Order: sequence, then C-alpha cells, then structure tokens
Amino acid sequence: MGINYSQCWEDQTVLTKALNVNKEDVVLSIASGGDNTFALLLQEPISVTAIDKNPAQIYLLELKLVAIQQLNYQTFREFLGVDESSKRIDTFLEIKSQLSGQARIYWEDNLEDISLGIIHCGRFEKFLAFFRRRVLPWVQSKRNINKMLACITMNNQNDFYDNVWNHWRWKLMFKLCFNKLTIKNFARAPGSFDGVERISSSKHYYLRTQHALINTPVNNNYFLNYILTGRYGGEFPEYLKQENFQKLKQLVDRIELISQPLDKYLISKTRKDFTKYNLSDIFETVNDSNLILTFQQIIKATKNNARLIYWNHFIAKQHPSKFDHSITLDKVIASELHQVDRGFFYSRLVVESINK
Ligand SMILES: C[S@@+](CC[C@H](N)C(=O)[O-])C[C@H]1O[C@@H](n2cnc3c(N)ncnc32)[C@H](O)[C@@H]1O
Repeated sequence: MGINYSQCWEDQTVLTKALNVNKEDVVLSIASGGDNTFALLLQEPISVTAIDKNPAQIYLLELKLVAIQQLNYQTFREFLGVDESSKRIDTFLEIKSQLSGQARIYWEDNLEDISLGIIHCGRFEKFLAFFRRRVLPWVQSKRNINKMLACITMNNQNDFYDNVWNHWRWKLMFKLCFNKLTIKNFARAPGSFDGVERISSSKHYYLRTQHALINTPVNNNYFLNYILTGRYGGEFPEYLKQENFQKLKQLVDRIELISQPLDKYLISKTRKDFTKYNLSDIFETVNDSNLILTFQQIIKATKNNARLIYWNHFIAKQHPSKFDHSITLDKVIASELHQVDRGFFYSRLVVESINK
C-alpha cells in the first residue's frame, strides 16, 4: 500500500487543547501524515510513539523526521513542497543515508513523489490536486476563491457565501466529485467506507464544507486554503512554523516509530504508561468485537487520568459501554472543540478520559 495521507486532516489546535499534553506525558499518536504527531511533540512530552498500520505512512514520517534533523528551515520547506523547488531529488540524495533500510528503498522507488514535494504525495492530496486543477476552475473563479479566503469577518464570509459562492454549480460539484464512489475509488484510504453504505457522502461533505465556510473563520483555516489553492495561506501546521523549527530539531529523538495496527502493538507491549492518545478516526470501520479488544488493550496500556481524542467521519463510535466504569466521555469539551474544528470533514469529535 502506498501513502494515503501525506498531511493530517485533523485540526491540531483542537487536538492539543483536548489532550493538554505536558512534560510528564507519554503520548501515543496515529502517524498518518505526521503533522499532528509533531504538534504533540512540540508540547515536550517524555515521548511520542507514532504508530500506523500502513508502513508507507511510517516511511513518510521518517523522511519528514530526517528532513527536520538534516536541513535548514528554508531547504526543509522547499524539500517538503511548501515552497517551489527544482532541487528536491538532490536534497533527498544528500539525506537518504540517514533513513532506515526499508524507508530508503521505499523512497528510492518513489522519486516522483519526492520531486512533487512529500506533503502533496498522498492518494488523498493527489485527489485534491486533480479536483483543484480540473474541476474547481469550472465552479469558482480564482478571483472568487481569493475573495472568499480574504474575508476577515464572519459577516463578510456569510454574505459572500450566500450571494456569490453557494450557486448551483457548487452544489452539483459535491454530487459529482464527493459522492461515495469517487471518494472511495480515488481519495480516501481503501476500506474507509466499509459499513457506511446508507449515508450520502456528497451531502455530508456539502454540509460540512458549508459549516466551515459560514461558521468558522476561513482566513486561518489552512485546510481550506490548501484544498482551494494548493497552499496553506497565512497559517501553517505547527511543525512548519519557523518559530518551532529549532525546538523540533531538539525534540525529534523522542519519537518512536511503529509500523503495526494499534491493537496488535498494544497486545505485544508490556508498557503501561501511556497518558495521552491521538487516535485520528481509526475506529470508524472497526467492528464491535475489535472495538472491545482495542479498548481493552488501551486501558491495560494506560496510566490513570489518561485522555483520548478521536474523530468520527460518518459513524458515531465511542468506547464500548462495558468500559463505562473506567472511561468517561467529555461531551462538553468535545462539542465545543468540534464547533471550531478547522478540519471540517468530520461529523463528531470524541474526547474521553480513563480512570481505572
Ligand atoms: C484514520 S486515517 C485518517 C483518515 C482521514 N482523516 C480520512 O477520513 O480519510 C489515519 C491513519 O490511521 C491509520 N490507521 C487506521 N487504523 C489503524 C489502526 N488500527 N492501527 C494503526 N493505524 C491505523 C491509517 O493507515 C491512516 O494512515
């Protein structure tokens, strides 16, 4: 399997507020594109275990990690694809000796993704690039996209959305491009739609995008900026901010990379000291017995007063009720954070604490 997500699509501000990581924490984070694992690392916990069942996601994180260690800030941005560059292969050849054997082989086989810039190389990000180049220009003019992203008040945004943006072509676009078949075959990871047969994907994405455009500020939403322009705009993921770069260099040694499904990893581990969990949306397609097994393992591998965060895309999932005595839902904070979540695809945010 190749890289499905070369960036994280969950809002790291929401993540860091919900988990409130401190210097005593031992963190476990689903790797995905790596951005959110780095955001948690910047809170200076004791360690961050980045785990993904897809080895290619771990190779991506390893390459980002080596790039942080080896490059200066400007070259780092160029190498990743934040800024234009024709020298990415040269940079890769300079730093590749620092990669593990398997990661090096993977990237040597995928040099076109290096040339593209590794933040753009996921299946999902490539789908977005196709959408942005081939579809969006028929729906919204460049001028209107720039105007929408330049709105500075919610009133501006709402007026612009109602009077200019939300026309029939915009609505039709969701039916054509964000229906289940298209998203399943070209955008999200294979298997992402298992169990969600009866839900309208195009309606979900239309309404969630509407929420982002009318209820949350667009000018600091780097997800929206990236989707519409291919650039982040004025705001960046934490690991790409200049003020964090030197600190990140000093902290990357605290990351441990694990290429395994979470439940298998937790079963094999005698470790019982995780205190914070970033679980992305991994429970979405998990069946009931596997959900019970995974939560059983999480509880075993956890210190008291641990916190978990994860997102639900289409299906509401939370800890199985048999663990009610040790896991509490933090509904208030979850719904407050979900309202302002810039990663607007998700229908629900779950924050839980564990007290054994
Ligand atoms: C869940 S996806 C993010 C999905 C994306 N936000 C979307 O909705 O299309 C994040 C990562 O979780 C990984 N993943 C899913 N289930 C996992 C599991 N049980 N253990 C470890 N990694 C898992 C996937 O390989 C993927 O890289």
